Amino acid sequence: MKKTIEDLDLKNKKVIIRVDFNVPIKNGKITDDNRIRESLKTINYACDKGAKVILLSHLGRVKEEKDKLTNTLLPVAKRLEELINRKVTFINETRGLNLENAINELKPGEIVLVENTRFEDLDGKKESSNDPELGSYWASLGDLFINDAFGTSHRAHASNVGIGSNLPNAIGYLVEKEIKIIGNAIKNPDRPFTVVLGGSKVSDKIKVIENLATIADNILIGGGMSYTFLKAKGYNIGSSLLDSENIDFCKDMIKKYGDKIVLPIDTITSKSVEECIDIKEISVEEIQNDDIGVDIGSKTIELFKQYLDSSKTIIWNGPVGVFEINGFDKGTKALLEIIKNNKGTTILGGGDTASAAINFGYKDKFTHISTGGGASLEMLEGKKLPGVSIIEEK
Ligand code: 3PG
Repeated sequence: MKKTIEDLDLKNKKVIIRVDFNVPIKNGKITDDNRIRESLKTINYACDKGAKVILLSHLGRVKEEKDKLTNTLLPVAKRLEELINRKVTFINETRGLNLENAINELKPGEIVLVENTRFEDLDGKKESSNDPELGSYWASLGDLFINDAFGTSHRAHASNVGIGSNLPNAIGYLVEKEIKIIGNAIKNPDRPFTVVLGGSKVSDKIKVIENLATIADNILIGGGMSYTFLKAKGYNIGSSLLDSENIDFCKDMIKKYGDKIVLPIDTITSKSVEECIDIKEISVEEIQNDDIGVDIGSKTIELFKQYLDSSKTIIWNGPVGVFEINGFDKGTKALLEIIKNNKGTTILGGGDTASAAINFGYKDKFTHISTGGGASLEMLEGKKLPGVSIIEEK
């Protein structure tokens, strides 16, 4: 078991907390603050225990000088201050005297938020390649390190693995919750255990399918990736999304795990993936050359419902249709409703599935909605997360 924040004495200590504040921002406005909200428990606990809190996070990818303008954490600092109801001092640099002075002036219970750690990527990808000098510099600013950035735990960055290897450390409440719930579900699920996989590309989910096919009882496949599976079964998928390099992989999976893999039997088609043009609900045998599959149909919803209703553990990763477009969102909404009513363990993972659930008003309706896209996928692939591995055992 990993050490948790409760295993450390935080009083009067400078505590560096790695959070994942990589939130969507449009025109300077945060459009989904869930990751900030989910970090509050750990930050509040540290403040209440008398820690001097130093927060680090990345935001987006910083490749050119101009990216600094759109990727500053300043809007996050403001939102955090509103949500946490404590003063947050934002330092608009990632190293130097201003930052060091601000940290040295911190009193117990006060918070500093450091500028986007990936600003360091402009100079030789120091953050993203876990530059040892940067990791030890950041570590020198604190006494203890807490990793609460579940969403970044699949990355070995200077701000998680680098600092973690230089300081006594532990995980925060969010990382603890994520690894416990997802980890238990895949190690020791209550059965029947059903996985719903969607999203556009088969290539993104190959390792998840391979790993979960050996663990789950049922794998329900929807979304863009289902059309490659249908093609592998010999159907005409018209102009639907095809991941041609992975047809053989799909054939192989159907051959090995045909008893577990459940594919759509009907589909919604349109002539455009961006808007409803000549929209039809047809059986998968009826797809014409110019049809584009954009959602699962009502018979598939019913079929999936039968598996889901009798399941005791459900993991869902990837929407089953182009849910962002009104008219192509019926399948994703129907599954949210079906899974919401399940009394077992229900876990939603992946950025798109989480935002569909939150945007459609289902935020608190499941056992867990993961804050990690890539990180939750890598857990489902059976991989170890470097940001968690670096943390000491109890
Ligand atoms: C995420 O949003 O998945 C994490 O914050 C990691 O971001 P990244 O994919 O840019 O490394």
